[in-house]
Amino acid sequence: MSAQQPDDVYTHGHHESVVRAHASRTAENSAAFVIPHLTPGVSVLDVGCGPGSITCDFAEMVAPGRVAGLDRSPDIIAQAAALAAERGVDNVDFATGNVYDLDFPDESFDVVHAHQVLQHLTDPVAALREMRRVAKAGGIVAVRDADFHGMSWYPAIAELDDWMDLYQRIARRNGAEPDAGRRLVSWAQAAGFTDVAPSSSNWLYATGQQRRWQARVWGERVLHSSFADQALEYGFASEADLARISAGWHRWGSTEDGWFLIPNGEVIARA
Ligand SMILES: C[S@@+](CC[C@H](N)C(=O)[O-])C[C@H]1O[C@@H](n2cnc3c(N)ncnc32)[C@H](O)[C@@H]1O
Repeated sequence: MSAQQPDDVYTHGHHESVVRAHASRTAENSAAFVIPHLTPGVSVLDVGCGPGSITCDFAEMVAPGRVAGLDRSPDIIAQAAALAAERGVDNVDFATGNVYDLDFPDESFDVVHAHQVLQHLTDPVAALREMRRVAKAGGIVAVRDADFHGMSWYPAIAELDDWMDLYQRIARRNGAEPDAGRRLVSWAQAAGFTDVAPSSSNWLYATGQQRRWQARVWGERVLHSSFADQALEYGFASEADLARISAGWHRWGSTEDGWFLIPNGEVIARA
């Protein structure tokens, strides 16, 4: 059990615009690097599972193996449990919990996974140590995180530069690391893993539908989610700034040739 349990601020929060984006994730589009390890009978812990769409995909892949989905937010865990019921997935259990202090004995799971979670923590190395504790000997810890400064887009839109600057400032003010992707190898080594396999994969928004979706997600989040609350509370932006950045997102979304690339770092670390 971890000695440290920081009370981190989760930068995105759980506004409907955020959760809708997370709920569109699948094992194929967000955790392809883990799929080769998800054979029938394998046990999985998905830490920071959010609305549970990836977790339910994992459960279908490993059945009759058991899957545990865990998140700090009770509201989001209720949504994940509702999704499992709706999809008829019965080999998954969702519960609230904290990655720094997992309520499982040592060596409980074959696969311990966290998607887009470490970037929000003030102590990702402590989290990885705790994930390692509950992984079976010979099992794996699998993590994937975006790298914000690695994101690139076209055309150049000044408001998107302002959005990036604001996101970086808010996340860092929360003690988190938005450029997590490039640090995963380093964090895994610091957590004591000696067998670390890195990879990377992208999310790309470059068709009309993808552009409109991504622009709507961030156009709304900038105005209504915890991002907006924190930007105002920390004195980093005014409501007029947020309205301008949101409009910039929609302008990018209505281009005919726009491109937005999100690179993600990945690590499979053997316990
Ligand atoms: C960006 S979301 C990712 C959700 C999901 N893994 C996905 O990719 O769709 C990060 C999630 O981590 C959760 N989280 C943040 N800090 C946590 C902690 N200390 N312990 C457990 N979950 C945490 C948040 O509540 C949030 O649901």
